[in-house]
Amino acid sequence: MKSPWWKKTSIYQIYPWSFCDSNGDGIGDLQGIISHLDDLQELGVETIWFSPFYLSPGRDYGYDISDYLSIDPRFGTKADFDRLVKEIHKRKMKIVLDMVMNHTSDEHLWFQTSKSSRKNPKRDFYIWKEGQGKRPPNNWKSMVGGSGWQYDAHTNEYYYTNFLPFQPDLNYRNPEVKKQMFAVLDHWLKQKVDGFRLDIFNSIFKDELYRDNPKSARFFPSPDNHDEAFFQKKTFNLNLPESFQFAKEVRKRLSRYAHEPFLIGEVSGSDTVLKSFLGERSDGLHLVFQFELIHFQWKASFFRNILQKNEQVFPSPYMPVYVYGNHDQRRYIDRIQGNPEKAKVLSTLQFFARGIPVIYYGEEIARKEGRISNWSGQDPIAKRNSFVPLWLSNLLGIYINRDNCRLPMLWDNSKNAGFSKGTPWLPLGTFRPEDTVEVQKNTKGSLWQHYQILFRLRKLNRVFTEGSLSIEQERHPNVLVFERKLGKERVFVLLSFSDSPIEEKWKVSAEVLHSFGAVEKSNDSVRILGIGGIVWKHREIVSKPKPKFS
Ligand code: NOJ
Repeated sequence: MKSPWWKKTSIYQIYPWSFCDSNGDGIGDLQGIISHLDDLQELGVETIWFSPFYLSPGRDYGYDISDYLSIDPRFGTKADFDRLVKEIHKRKMKIVLDMVMNHTSDEHLWFQTSKSSRKNPKRDFYIWKEGQGKRPPNNWKSMVGGSGWQYDAHTNEYYYTNFLPFQPDLNYRNPEVKKQMFAVLDHWLKQKVDGFRLDIFNSIFKDELYRDNPKSARFFPSPDNHDEAFFQKKTFNLNLPESFQFAKEVRKRLSRYAHEPFLIGEVSGSDTVLKSFLGERSDGLHLVFQFELIHFQWKASFFRNILQKNEQVFPSPYMPVYVYGNHDQRRYIDRIQGNPEKAKVLSTLQFFARGIPVIYYGEEIARKEGRISNWSGQDPIAKRNSFVPLWLSNLLGIYINRDNCRLPMLWDNSKNAGFSKGTPWLPLGTFRPEDTVEVQKNTKGSLWQHYQILFRLRKLNRVFTEGSLSIEQERHPNVLVFERKLGKERVFVLLSFSDSPIEEKWKVSAEVLHSFGAVEKSNDSVRILGIGGIVWKHREIVSKPKPKFS
């Protein structure tokens, strides 16, 4: 069977607020994005995922939607959107929209109507419940801490929010909600959108009986598992079996479309949970993000274990999804002290392991984090925790001010790095001329050029997108070698995490596809002098059958 396109693609995430501002208001917009599509094409980008640009009060920067069918005027018009789709498709790229199904903004007409009275026909669009005396209906904590229940004095009931208080959760036990949300999906699919990234999809259903969550000893959530946090196990408000089932329903809805749109879910939990979202027959969400690389350790063994585990737990037809960062997480370059050679090792692993790489805008130029304190953050999570000093949140390894990973893109050395002619909505932070796309594009060996090679190699060699993966037995603790194989084609990827030369030799028997850093081919073997990597292709010689003599 032919492998569908989305299994072979890579995903590049654009945060519209910060990509490029065409009208000088300091906020990125669709025209600005269109003006850089050629750059993305030159880089090799295949599928672009856009963080939301629907109508929104913007209190959670678009993740609080007040109208799912309109484009927010901050970003442009419907005509701009139509052009965006056309221009993306013209370049043989695909477009994925963010779909926030779990909650709306409290300014959405549905919620405004719902909260008007207990008897309103839209009341049941959201999750309303009476309190227990002066206390909320039960002990459920939201994903960001604190009770998820918000009191509404007007109707003397609580509504439920699994994220922030201004983001009321929709009630998917009401068939009318499903119907309306499917109509939203249809609306965008008819405009040839190629897929959706589903925001906190693990939160869609909550326990019908509103049972209290059991206690737990854990306080901080882990970046890839929210199942336990704030001293409770989220048994009854996250990852419910009904949400796994719903994943299948949404997929079925998409299967009506001939252009094979796909779903990629933002879910978190154990591997068993992730697999349940994908469906036991691979009939749930097409893909789910795997956030385990977000908290990577700079060690060959860390990556070896993850690749090995994913081959066992998510073998084909499942496709692992490798992510180092996004608009909610510290940029990965800051976790490797801004070292571009280390970034080359990590990105090579991400692009050539069996799976889908997801690249967050700016990773290709080592765009760094900001240093904006929590108390001066615009991000609602920072505002909520503004009393925590930045050094303390860094020390505890918790990420509070997401402004810092959302700083404007660095295009060139004109005003505001070519991002905006006005005053950027977030500061640019410190950067050097060589940190921009323009300079890196023209600099041999730059990180941008390295990413370009990775994109190109994935496109030219089916072995990377369709081949199997096996990991070579450990010969040195700081070196990871894996093989991709498709039919007769075999490609080897060797990555060195070592700061110093390594005696051990690897034989390179054929064409080198790419090498970088302190790793090179010398005669027939690889010399490792430090951090770096090499990718080589080995073609098996098919021996001719020996002539038979009688
Ligand atoms: C997850 C998104 O990635 C994040 O940015 C947003 O704030 C929450 N969901 C709420 O929608």
